[in-house]
Amino acid sequence: MTVTIVGSQLGDEGKGGVVDLYGDAADVVVRYQGGDNAGHTVVYDGDTYKLSLVPSGAVRGKVGVLGNGCVVNPETLFEEIDTLRERGLDPDIRVAERAHVILPYHRALDGIEESEKDDLAAGTTKRGIGPTYEDKAGRRGVRIGDLLDPDVLRERLEYVVPQKKALAEEVFDAETGEAFDIDFLFETYREYGTRLAEEDMTVDCGSFLQERIDAGDNVMLEGAQGTSLDIDHGVYPYVTSSNPTAGGATVGTGLGPTVVGDGEVIGIVKAYLSRVGTGPLPTELGGVEGQTPGYDPDAGAGDDEEELATYIRDEGGEYGTVTGRPRRVGWLDMPMLRHATRANGFTGLAINHIDVLAGLDEVKVGHSYEFDGEEIFTMPPTTEQWGRCEATFETFEGWDDVDWSDVADEGYDAIPENARTYLEYISDELEVPIYAVGVGPGREETVVVEDPYA
Ligand code: GDP
Ligand code: IMO
Ligand code: MG
Repeated sequence: MTVTIVGSQLGDEGKGGVVDLYGDAADVVVRYQGGDNAGHTVVYDGDTYKLSLVPSGAVRGKVGVLGNGCVVNPETLFEEIDTLRERGLDPDIRVAERAHVILPYHRALDGIEESEKDDLAAGTTKRGIGPTYEDKAGRRGVRIGDLLDPDVLRERLEYVVPQKKALAEEVFDAETGEAFDIDFLFETYREYGTRLAEEDMTVDCGSFLQERIDAGDNVMLEGAQGTSLDIDHGVYPYVTSSNPTAGGATVGTGLGPTVVGDGEVIGIVKAYLSRVGTGPLPTELGGVEGQTPGYDPDAGAGDDEEELATYIRDEGGEYGTVTGRPRRVGWLDMPMLRHATRANGFTGLAINHIDVLAGLDEVKVGHSYEFDGEEIFTMPPTTEQWGRCEATFETFEGWDDVDWSDVADEGYDAIPENARTYLEYISDELEVPIYAVGVGPGREETVVVEDPYA
């Protein structure tokens, strides 16, 4: 069977940790979209692994697959594999031949366009994600399978590179170097192709996975980013360029929707909000310069709110896994979660980071929005409309900081009562059962309520 892990908010909900937890019962862990814009953390035996491309299951010896819906930077891939090997692991990674390749000009153009866009910039990770998906849709991309065939690779590069060079130089007035040089690209990417072939890493993803499922294996589908960063269902244009939502798990792997729908779809929820990047955020606390629209630190939200934001940011370690940028933080946004529950069809929830909120006198939740004088309970379709929404808050009594490892050992009933009230409010509102509660970064710091593979 399959278990699909999906971020329900704006990324960094703790997906890596949940993949690690439930991945124990899985044989294969597959990324179905995105690329090295992700930063997934797995804490194993006191060691922390931050993975941007290698599927999180690789830390525990599972077969890791990058599905056809991913965009793959071979440089990052091999760097990550080599680093894991240096740390004593032996990752078994397969890459879909249909997956698209991020080339150096994609990264260059990501940076160039971000600085050009000004207010419309999403604050991307500058990993070339958007430009690579653009070329995929424009039918001028280079796929992993093309790296294995020198004639095809050269043909593709000879068509596309002059266009990219002209775009950079003539439209954006930017300087170009080897990132836009056909011979350099051909030689470098042929070498990656040779390594992929020598290490027998490439697969026909859908067939590979279906055969494993038919043989009785458990497959975990690891989403990156989150529902509100989805190109269709997120806060466009402040989104990523793929579909993190559960539908992406079928398109991005080649498994049929009935196969994915037959399994479980678990929504990963952070008990508050964090956001790296720009765009509105109705439940935001304080702000971060350069990311919060119109934020002026001197005329900010008031000292108390800024202090609270700093407290949550520091307690939760809310600094980007990939970029190190301070993340914007806010209270939980229920309309966002109702939207995610519908778009993904969650069968279970893993709610993380309740330990981070411990010690606060009160914890607030954006229960609904006031939008043009009306109360609404889910996200409106345009980001301009979302920007006009004002959150209507509900207040919950806070809970004390306790020994969370003990809580994880003892089980759900050991969670402080006020925290349980908070968790049950979320579950009741969304009408989705709680499968797990994260009370710390380690796998042992999780209260497991339900095993999706059981
Ligand atoms: P992902 O992108 O969804 O995999 O999440 P990230 O790894 O980018 O960010 C989540 C961060 O929170 C990581 O540092 C995790 O180790 C940590 N984390 C995950 N779950 C919990 C939790 O329940 N409590 C605390 N305190 N930290 C957690
Ligand atoms: P994980 O998998 C949080 C954000 C960027 C930017 C927007 C577009 O760790 O949850 P991109 O580089 O994808 O074109 O950037 O999406 N973003 C993420 N935010 N977590 C992530 O991944 C993200 N991946 C992209 O900050 O606003
Ligand atoms: Mg992350």
